[in-house]
Amino acid sequence: MCGIIGYVGKENALPVLIEGLRRESYRGYDSSGVVVFGKDAQIVKAVGKLEALEEKLGSFRIQGGLGVGHVRWATHGGVTEENAHPHADCNGNIFVVHNGIIENYRILREKLEKRGHTFASQTDTEVLSHLIEDFFEGNLEDAVRKALQLVRGTYGLVVIAKQDPEKLVAARLSSPLVLATNTEGGYVASDPAALVSHSNKMVFLEDGEVAVITEHGFQVSDLFNVSKVKEAVELEWSVEEAQKGGYEHFMLKEIMEQSESILNSLRGRLVEKEGKAKLGGLDPVKDRLQNVDRLIISGMGTAYIAALVGEYMLEEHVGIPVEAENAAEFRYRKPIISDNTAFLAISQSGETADTLGALREAKEKGAFTLGIVNAVGATVSRETAAGVYNHAGPEIGVASTKAFTSQLVVLALLTLYLGRQRGMSLVTGQRIAKELGRIPELVRRILDQADRIAVLAEKYWKYSNFLYIGRKYNYPIALEGALKLKEISYTHAEGYGAGEMKHGPIALIDENFPTIAIVPSDSVYEKMISNIQEIKTRKGPVIAIATEGNTEIGDIADDVIYIPKTLEMLTPILAVIPLQLFAYFFGVAKGYDVDKPRNLAKSVTVE
Ligand code: AGP
Ligand code: GLU
Repeated sequence: MCGIIGYVGKENALPVLIEGLRRESYRGYDSSGVVVFGKDAQIVKAVGKLEALEEKLGSFRIQGGLGVGHVRWATHGGVTEENAHPHADCNGNIFVVHNGIIENYRILREKLEKRGHTFASQTDTEVLSHLIEDFFEGNLEDAVRKALQLVRGTYGLVVIAKQDPEKLVAARLSSPLVLATNTEGGYVASDPAALVSHSNKMVFLEDGEVAVITEHGFQVSDLFNVSKVKEAVELEWSVEEAQKGGYEHFMLKEIMEQSESILNSLRGRLVEKEGKAKLGGLDPVKDRLQNVDRLIISGMGTAYIAALVGEYMLEEHVGIPVEAENAAEFRYRKPIISDNTAFLAISQSGETADTLGALREAKEKGAFTLGIVNAVGATVSRETAAGVYNHAGPEIGVASTKAFTSQLVVLALLTLYLGRQRGMSLVTGQRIAKELGRIPELVRRILDQADRIAVLAEKYWKYSNFLYIGRKYNYPIALEGALKLKEISYTHAEGYGAGEMKHGPIALIDENFPTIAIVPSDSVYEKMISNIQEIKTRKGPVIAIATEGNTEIGDIADDVIYIPKTLEMLTPILAVIPLQLFAYFFGVAKGYDVDKPRNLAKSVTVE
């Protein structure tokens, strides 16, 4: 999910690698490394920022025209120098850099170790080096094609070999790779931003393709060596535009990639036949979890809102008392915690001060601690007994979007995991697992409405106040929609449980105070319709988020955005997406920097 660069040609490879990694470092990473073939293979790795790698490189004189580099966003194996890429085979012949997740790495590693391979890291990636080594008979691309036929998961990878030099071998499956050539040589990267300074003509690899790049050009085939003809694309992007994948802002890029990020969060974790979730990070504590009789879920901001959704999911399907707690409040209260209380911290960055404070307080009082974190190796993940990584990839925009829907997906997986340990039936488990597997496709259908939602934002642009209302699973989504609008467009917005309307908020309503009502066809639909009718009676404009096929809502609300039907517990994942897009387009219409809103930081590491 992070950054790859490769070069082969007349120039010294190292400066090309470092510049390329710098262009890709915007995405957030935790470590880096390069290998260059000169008289010998010189490999240098470092934890932390690229400057640490450059400092280490300063003491080497690395010359050579073939090399690869990587900035890592760890998914498997902590943030250490050993786990940084490139990863070598046993004999220091083959070197691999990889973006993505090798799902079946454990079984492959066991087999390779049985065949005498020795591993130097805890990563999933390293199995690739040894697997390719196993097939290597002098031709690198042949070995790569054979090895990849045994691999399940996602990869953008580049391989070089001392014993078959002067070429880069690249392969793609669900993780982008792009090639370019010029008079100085051949290039490959995971992000066009790393290549725009070398050429504006690029070739994007498709899934299942393998490329062999030399200083004179490249050939592309599939995994069975069937040649593929590739057209170059002319990109007139600046580096900045390339970093955003052609989108105007990181926030929009991250909203629009939620179909993929949710797929990555689900990858290898659904066992539909058994109606179960496979969460490797929890297996070591499976028995301990069986005895948990109360669950506290805690976080801040959007992560706290995810906790609120989790409270509904887990209470309904796991049958134990569940409380969502705002971390900043929890940490200063006098919480009652018993040995069988579990405390689940949710944090995208894994570094939020208040969330860490609450986690430490709960641990101090004897709670069993768990985490849901996106940044592998972050403090929350190191201070909890067990947890689940989001695998949503780096989130650059300050406003949390793809991390939030990933948190909801992981909470649904946790509901399945704990529910099936308890009273949840096979049939219910299968139904949830099946429907969870459909979510990426349902999300895509909503994202396809982006242009229409942009028009809606323009239509409501003149209003200065908004009310967001929802009930049950979508009460937290009303809070999240309001938070997005506030933090992106600095517009006053309040989120409420719709049942509260008569207890105060309805006093706000008139023709100048629009309401966004989240009203899917679920168990509280009729209640929501009554709330909407009360608002309409007072001339309040209403934008409804409703289920596809609802034929009456169009006559009641002023505007409707439709979302696909799904299980009630999964509607929050779908309902939030139109609200993210609405806030984004609203903020853009107001001319604000939606990626870096005023006064906000991506990770609030102070109280
Ligand atoms: C969400 O859009 C905000 N950027 C903010 O509320 C964020 O969710 C909160 O600071 C928690 O961050 P964390 O998930 O990294 O702990
Ligand atoms: N899964 C690999 C690792 O954890 C690659 C991570 C990445 O995409 O940077 O090392």
